[in-house]
Parts: sequence; structure tokens; C-alpha cells
Amino acid sequence: MAINREIIEKVKQTADIVSIISGHGVLLKQAGSRYKALCPFHQEKTPSFTVNPQRGFFHCFGCGKTGSAIDFVMEYEKLSFAEAVTELANRLGIPLETTKTSHQSEDRVLQALNAAVKFYHTCLQQQSTAIPGRQYLQARAVPQDIQDTFQIGFIPDEWQLLIEHLTAKGFTTNELAHAGMVKISTKSGRPYDTFRNRIIFPIRDPRGRCIAFGGRSIDPNIQPKYLNSPETKYYQKKRTLYGFYEGLATIKQIRQLILVEGYLDVTRLHEFGFQQAVATCGTSLTIEHVRFAKRYVDKIILLLDGDRAGQQAALRSCPLFLSSGMDASVVTLPAGEDPDSFLLAQGDKKFSELLQRDTPVFEYLVQQSLAKHSPNVQGRTKAVEELLPMIRDIQEPQKQQLALMQLAESINLPVSAILEIVPKSLHYTQNNAILHNLHPSVIANNTGDQDEKRALQALLTSRDSIRVAREHLHAKEFRTPHFQQIYEKFLAFSNEDFQSMQIEEWKQWAPEMYPQIMEIYMDDFAGEGQEADLLLKRSIIRVKKRNFDLELQERLAAARTDEDKLHASKEVRQQKQLLNQLFQNVNLNSDKIEEVDL
Ligand code: UTP
Ligand code: MN
Repeated sequence: MAINREIIEKVKQTADIVSIISGHGVLLKQAGSRYKALCPFHQEKTPSFTVNPQRGFFHCFGCGKTGSAIDFVMEYEKLSFAEAVTELANRLGIPLETTKTSHQSEDRVLQALNAAVKFYHTCLQQQSTAIPGRQYLQARAVPQDIQDTFQIGFIPDEWQLLIEHLTAKGFTTNELAHAGMVKISTKSGRPYDTFRNRIIFPIRDPRGRCIAFGGRSIDPNIQPKYLNSPETKYYQKKRTLYGFYEGLATIKQIRQLILVEGYLDVTRLHEFGFQQAVATCGTSLTIEHVRFAKRYVDKIILLLDGDRAGQQAALRSCPLFLSSGMDASVVTLPAGEDPDSFLLAQGDKKFSELLQRDTPVFEYLVQQSLAKHSPNVQGRTKAVEELLPMIRDIQEPQKQQLALMQLAESINLPVSAILEIVPKSLHYTQNNAILHNLHPSVIANNTGDQDEKRALQALLTSRDSIRVAREHLHAKEFRTPHFQQIYEKFLAFSNEDFQSMQIEEWKQWAPEMYPQIMEIYMDDFAGEGQEADLLLKRSIIRVKKRNFDLELQERLAAARTDEDKLHASKEVRQQKQLLNQLFQNVNLNSDKIEEVDL
């Protein structure tokens, strides 16, 4: 359902985040201008879940969950964005008008797709021309009830069967082309069916509407073996999972997915009672797939064919699970088997046993990495280098620590020795990100410069100030590496883009810095709007002044004569005066802002 922007804005403005979160049974205790509670999204003993009513935001410093009232409802009730907005609107008494106007033609295309499902399925069941299709499915042992559940179909080897059928029903060639079921010949300009002489697997969205097809050739000489609908407005491969709708009841109940590679692997698993089986549609797994899945499940089991291609695919998918915080594990089938062949040959008991011996995804990555490199010091170093960036991407601090300890254990080195490999293996900035993320206790004595932090906070609060910052504060003037990185990221945006950015969009643009950005954003802040501008200017002055002082120290240490020393301090004093003049219009006497001493 599409929701009006206006309604979204209204909900955002009206929603009081404190009453919405406590309305969900979370016991919020006031602490200064903020509220704290035990996080409803992860197990904890001391409260790290924070709500900032001024910002309209919540953030958990333990698990990293964060966002607006809408995000809270989405996460807590496992709703889509539209569903969460609808629920809040209802709660707040905001009338809902969904935008229906331009959707007339969309509906036509969806109708055409679903009419095609019926046509292909009926054809398979009833037509004498579909005998080769029925024979094929019989040979592959696909039972009738599975054919019905998945609405599997067939289309004989002809050029325009579907076009003729659907145009007779009133659909235009244009609509069919939009649905990806019909192509237009570049030579003759004539339309022809996309799928011919193929078994048809309808691909459905979570509401059961067909949005695309996968077609398997029954002629071994025809390539490709599987033909998939092109991407359309209705069908985005990067977030679509085959079998999801058909297994939805089970998936919601057990909150788990088994991810396989093929259409027929999905149908076979469903047939044997594993309705939580899904597959991507002719693409590898993406972060969008995982995000989508996260709304419904707590765990994904990656079921791999016992061949190299399968393993390679897994190595690409596994880091996605780590960075998105999805609990995942890997099960590898014996060589030469896919889930379909294994179940047919060994049955569901053997299969269940196999599932129970799953390997957690990080452990799997460690195993694979160690197996790839030689078992000497260089090999182990390479493995560590390969794995550390993945550890860095783990968003939850506790899981991150755990992974690091696990890595240390599997290569038989103490954690401290692994951290020694870090500087040698990674670039300066990356390395600092790791150090910052990995062991806050080690760097606790250096949480960074407070003025640098205030500058970033002011920029997040009053976006227009980016112009002032860009003009007066260079990224190299930062001395705290993680603040410097964030500032560099800010400067990488145009002023306009930076100004219009929603705070939650940082999750997308800078996932590796997002926890820190939120930490800065959520920290107590003196003021909004104009006060933020003043705070920014004050922070700039103080950062620069500190740098002058550091510079002076260095110069004094290096000075040979008293004259040199005198000269150095005179220069620095002048620099400070210039700075003073530059910012003399800054009203430093505002109540909330203490005097700047220069
Ligand atoms: P596989 O080639 O491993 O075959 O493709 P499979 O699923 O075991 O198929 P059967 O058992 O021979 O019928 C795995 C998946 O990769 C995609 C399809 O989604 C397929 O199910 N694929 C494969 C394509 O998209 N195009 C192809 O040409 C081949
Ligand atoms: Mn197969």
C-alpha cells in the first residue's frame, strides 16, 4: 500500500516517541533530558536503550537499534513501513487517505500477470499440447499438490499462445510487455511470448500476487536452463524470495528461513515439510533480501550444494549476515548433491539430522579462510586480514567481541596478538575504525576530543552550518581519527544533500560509522537552531586554538635558541588574534554557551 507523504510527515510530527514506546510496555525512566530503559530488542541487565524526546529518536547503545517512533513500531511489531505508519496514524487519529489515483494501470499489469498464472497452470493440467510438460514434472517427481500450491504451469513451444489468450481477455500488448511476459521483436516489431516450451514457476510477492516468472526449459539443448522475468516495476530481484509466500504461515511461526539455490529445491523442501525454504531468483543474495527477511525471521540457514560454485556463493553472502546482524548458519550438502536430490535419495530424517549440524556463519567463514591459506604464520596472518574487516562490520559490540575471541581461539593466538596484526594489515583510517569499534575498554582513556565531538553534533543538529564548517574547518584539523572520518564523510556530501539528509539515512550512507554518528547525535545537546550554529563556531575556535597550542609545543621543543622560542610564541599569538577577529561576530555571551577564552 502506498502512503501519502503528507500523512507520513503528519505522523512524524504528531507522534510522541516517549508515550508510543511506553505504550508498548517499555518501562522508561527519565534521566536528564532523556529516558532510559532495558532494551526491548536484546537481552540486557543494565539499561542501554535511550529515548531522546527532543530528537524524537530512540537508540540502543547495546544492540545498535535506532530510529524514530515509526522505526520503533516497525521493529517491535514486525511491520512494514506502510503498516507502521497506518497503525500510528490510527492511534493518533490522523485520517488515512491512500493514494490510489495513478495505480489504475499498475493494477492492470498485476491482473495480467495473475491471468497468465491461471493460463499456464490450466494449460499444464489440461491441454494435450502440455503432455511433454507433464512428463517432465513426472520424471522430476513433482507431486500434484505441490504443482497446485505453487501454481506451476507449462507453455508449449509456440510464439504467441499467451499473447493470444490475454489480448482476447482485453489486455494490451503494452501491458503484457510491462509485465515482462512479452517481448517485441526488434526486426519485425511483432510481439512474442517471453516463455516458450518451459515449465513455469510463478514468483509471488508476500501478499500472494504474481510479479514474475521463472521458466525451466524441458529441452536439454535449449539455453538458458532457467529463464527469469526481467526486472519490472513490480519485480525487484534483489528483494524477492521464491517460496516466501507459499511458506509464510510456517515462516511467521518458526521465524526461520532455509535458503537454497533453485526453484525445484524450494518445492522439494516444502513437499517434505520444510515450508520455510526459499530461494533467490537467479541472483545472489543481497542486503535487501536480508533486510526484508529480518522483518519476519530471526535466523537463516544457508543450505549449500556440495559443489565449489555453491561454496563461493556462500562466501559472498556470509558477510551480509554479519553486517546486518542476522543470525545465520551454514549447512553443506555432500558433494554432488543439491537439496532436491538429497531429499529424494535420503528422505527427511537424514535431512533433519543434517540441519542440526549447522555451522554458525562466522565459524564457517573462519574455517573456509583457514582452509584456503597455508597453516603457517603467513597463512594465518592472511586469514586474519581477511576476517578482520568482517568483524569490523558486525554492528553489535558484544557479538563483535565474541567473533574476535572466536577467531583468536581458532588460530591459537591471544586477542592481543591479533590486534597487533591490525596495523600491518589495514590502511590507517580503516585500522582506526576497527580499533574504535573493537575494544572500547582499551581506548577508553581516549574517547576523543570533546570540541570535535560538539562540532559534529552541532552539524547534525543544524545542517545549514555545514557551509560555515566547510569554510573554516578542514578535516585534517581533527585529531581524533573516528571523528575525523565522520567529518570527512560529512564533507563528501554537497551542502544541499547534507542539509536534506534524514538522520536515519546515515544507516545507508555510512553503515560502518552509524553507531558512532548516533552516539554523537543522541548525546545531550545544549540547543537547537541558532544555538547549534553558535556551538559550532565555538567548537571550531576551540579546535583551532588547541591545534595552535599543539603546534607551539612542537615548535618550542624543536627551537634551538630563546629567540626562536619567542618568535614561535609571537606567531601563534597572532594566529589566535586573527581567529578572534574572524569570529568576532559570534555571540559568545549566549546563556547556554560559556565564554571562549582565547
Ligand atoms: P542449477 O543449475 O543449480 O539448477 O541452478 P537446479 O536448480 O538444480 O535446477 P534443476 O534441478 O536442474 O532443474 C540453480 C538456480 O540458478 C538459477 C535458477 O534460479 C536455478 O534454480 N539459474 C540457473 C538461472 O537463473 N538460469 C540458469 O540458466 C540456470
Ligand atoms: Mn537440481
